[in-house]
Amino acid sequence: MSYFKIADLEQYFKHTKKAVREPRKFWGKMAEEAFLWYQAPERVFEFDFTNGDIKWFMGGKLNITKNCIDRYVARKGDKNAIIFESNNPDEPTQFISYNDLYQRVCKTANVLKSLGIEKGDRVCLYLPMIPELAIAMLACARIGAIHSVIFAGFSDAAARRRIEDCGAKLVITADGGFRGDKTIKLKEVIDKAINGLDCVEKVLVVKRTNQDIPFQAEKDVWFDELYANASEECNPEIMDAEDPLFILYTSGSTGKPKGMVHTTGGYMVQTAYTFANVFDYKEEDIFWCTADLGWITGHSYMLYGALLNGATTVIHEGIPTYPTPSRYWDIIDKHKVTHFYTAPTAIRSLMTNDYSYITSHDLSSLRVLGSVGEPINEEAWHWFNDFVGKKRCPIMDTWWQTETGAILIAPLAFKTPTKPTYATLPLPGTQAVLLDEHGEEIEDFQQMGNLCIKHPWPSMARTIWGDHKRYVETYFSTFPGYYFTGDNALRDEVGYYRIVGRTDDVIIVSGHNLGTAPIEDAINQHPAVAESAIVGYPHEIKGNTMYGFISLKVEGNYRDRDNLKKEINQLIADHYGPIGKLDKIQFVDDLPKTRSGKILRRMLRAIANNQENNLGDTSTMINPEILKKIIEEKL
Ligand code: PRX
Repeated sequence: MSYFKIADLEQYFKHTKKAVREPRKFWGKMAEEAFLWYQAPERVFEFDFTNGDIKWFMGGKLNITKNCIDRYVARKGDKNAIIFESNNPDEPTQFISYNDLYQRVCKTANVLKSLGIEKGDRVCLYLPMIPELAIAMLACARIGAIHSVIFAGFSDAAARRRIEDCGAKLVITADGGFRGDKTIKLKEVIDKAINGLDCVEKVLVVKRTNQDIPFQAEKDVWFDELYANASEECNPEIMDAEDPLFILYTSGSTGKPKGMVHTTGGYMVQTAYTFANVFDYKEEDIFWCTADLGWITGHSYMLYGALLNGATTVIHEGIPTYPTPSRYWDIIDKHKVTHFYTAPTAIRSLMTNDYSYITSHDLSSLRVLGSVGEPINEEAWHWFNDFVGKKRCPIMDTWWQTETGAILIAPLAFKTPTKPTYATLPLPGTQAVLLDEHGEEIEDFQQMGNLCIKHPWPSMARTIWGDHKRYVETYFSTFPGYYFTGDNALRDEVGYYRIVGRTDDVIIVSGHNLGTAPIEDAINQHPAVAESAIVGYPHEIKGNTMYGFISLKVEGNYRDRDNLKKEINQLIADHYGPIGKLDKIQFVDDLPKTRSGKILRRMLRAIANNQENNLGDTSTMINPEILKKIIEEKL
């Protein structure tokens, strides 16, 4: 794929211009020449932002797994596709070559077929970070089923919402999962999640922990038993470029998660292109992305982008601190990792450990570092640069979203000069703009605006599963004619972008996008709670964390406030997942509201962020008298 590699900064500017002037030629040539198609695309794109209709590579017929696996089997079947490091370092590393991957994906695809899964069916995956998860994703893609990976830290209620929303016919899970010194009961979570859900016909269970699990003979099937006898060949299903490849849920500012639908052709082209260019990928590289496959970063760079380039990708099951805080450095040293792509929250947590954990390891194999998921603060950037990269590895601060499918703003390793806290320049084909509140494009430097994109790109999500209206409203109605990212950003004098944060009620905690609404919904289920509002405030390690303001229904009945706080956090853990727990809970007499009854979150945000002198206009409030007490009792 080397010919669409950008050679230097000059060529980057040329390609950027070309992608604006002749987008059909730019993307059309790349798609046709760098990938295997059963039938080449007839039209490069069509779009209508008003109705949210976007199509790429129309008429093209392909299967993404042929591009990820088959073509490398032919050229270099013995090369490692996946290196799997278990949670427990004493468990032997699994090296999965392209040949092995081919066989395991085909066999798994045949298992799915034997369960009646066909093109277009939805399959939810609720699995630990083991090779079977990556293989199951590819097996779905092989037969044209739409995978929807659910992060295995989500609770049964959160999993259920997703399984039900996409109408999954099959759920693939494991008996359990290992995470640090904990063993997680995954099958039990799924049993609760699907209880009474008609759409789910079967639950396929992978053995990981060998613990005892409830097993219902009519519904549950052991993966191993079907796999043992499955055929090693599975012809790829011929997919249209616009056929869905997967659904991945992301938080929105209302209670319901948004099932972002990604299609096959455009996603393939742009994840491959960005992987090759942003990370300056070379044949002998060992790429390690520490994200979970349950998030878009895992999908696009640990899996698809890496394999589309014929790379070796590392999958690690565990956490950075188990069994010791040197686990990440052990893995880098052991496998001579060249690319280490992680999140600012992980960097900040690694920073708290003794430096000797790093110095006792040889990290000289590293060439390129990467950061994603939230703004990287200056201190973390310098620590990463100085101590991990030893000032010789450029840091790719990559900006993108579940919705964008692929990285849109980032430096190109060894080409774009980096600048701490700046994601730098839009990649060719990304027409980024900053808009003021009236929708006018901002030309000035260092002026904050709404980050929008004014031309479609191949890997953008095409719709929200089952709710196209919400897709149009969320992304295309705030600024007509533009895709609105929901992020605030500014630009410096050379055009580098700095992403500042979200404009909506999504809070990024430890790199996870958490919508406040579903967490508030969970809290409000407590019989004592009248109302709740969650806001974010900065946290040294997590980036942001959550502060809940909660008013109670029955004052006096719940004198044991500490216990009440525990119950509330337990409800959140049960209904949303432990990642949604609140660090601070303040009980209030009432929440500040407008006359029309809307909760004034911006005021609560100001209070939680020690900016109570900056509450803004209180004249439209129905209950201004409550503010004094809330401020006095602030935690
Ligand atoms: O606010 C931006 C932030 O993460 C949001 C997207 O979250 P999600 O869909 O979970 O995808 C995360 C992985 C791609 C964005 O709207 N974000 C992502 N990358 C950066 C970032 N904020 C600042 N700098 C980044 N590099």
